[in-house]
Amino acid sequence: MTIWQRIKTRLGLYERRFIHDPLRDVPELREVITDELQQRNGSDARNCQAVADALLFAVQYVAGSSVEGDIAEFGCMTGRTATVLSAAMASFRTNKVLHLFDSFEGLPATTNETDAASFHTREGTWRPGTCKGISPQVLRKRCEAFLKPEQVLIYEGWFSATIGKLPAGTKLGLLHVDCDLYQSTKDVLEYVFQQKMVTEGAILLFDDWNCNRASNSLGERKAWEEMVSKYRVVYSDLGSYGWASHKFIVHSYSMP
Ligand SMILES: C[S@@+](CC[C@H](N)C(=O)[O-])C[C@H]1O[C@@H](n2cnc3c(N)ncnc32)[C@H](O)[C@@H]1O
Repeated sequence: MTIWQRIKTRLGLYERRFIHDPLRDVPELREVITDELQQRNGSDARNCQAVADALLFAVQYVAGSSVEGDIAEFGCMTGRTATVLSAAMASFRTNKVLHLFDSFEGLPATTNETDAASFHTREGTWRPGTCKGISPQVLRKRCEAFLKPEQVLIYEGWFSATIGKLPAGTKLGLLHVDCDLYQSTKDVLEYVFQQKMVTEGAILLFDDWNCNRASNSLGERKAWEEMVSKYRVVYSDLGSYGWASHKFIVHSYSMP
């Protein structure tokens, strides 16, 4: 330790930097499962922590590895993962914008054969209106606890109508896809790849990858596979996290 570091430590400057780390304000990002986290998320607490860790490291990756582009979440519901992303963005001091998409009405009605055939649709777990969460106002408040107001853009409505509202020229370096359905995932991915918004090294995190018995012909898996094939996406498979989720890094792709 240099003399200057010793003086700073004596003055408490190092400690102060860590005491105010925003990550400490998010129960899912603490190192151990606290009573508070257990109360918030019940038996899902450990999975919530794994998801939070994956999002935290994804933000650290885009900040630390000079990945261009903003951060986007498709499916906000309780605001839990958006809060994690916000705290991580503040902690790693990135000025990127957080684009948050949700109907704020829960899941849409099923309009295609793939989603109709999904096990969760058939058993009634995924129905129109399920997963309805907080309001856009509450979501904004939670994110603004960590970010500047101009860093938080909220798009209210069905993805098919709102995805086109991304400001022209927007680039995306981190996409958190947490919208359960095949069609919802397709609506989002088709647009961002077609518009060349996904940057080199962008990280994509699929929260619901192993839903529907991990079938490759349903949900997020099918939508991703179609994108990979259509846009000849060259990617690295970063593997799974939690019980349901999976992440990838995109290296390159080309127009059909
Ligand atoms: C599993 S929840 C997301 C959980 C969330 N990340 C959290 O931390 O609580 C799925 C969300 O996706 C949204 N959603 C799914 N399909 C959508 C669509 N086509 N358009 C808009 N929102 C959609 C639902 O409204 C719901 O809030």
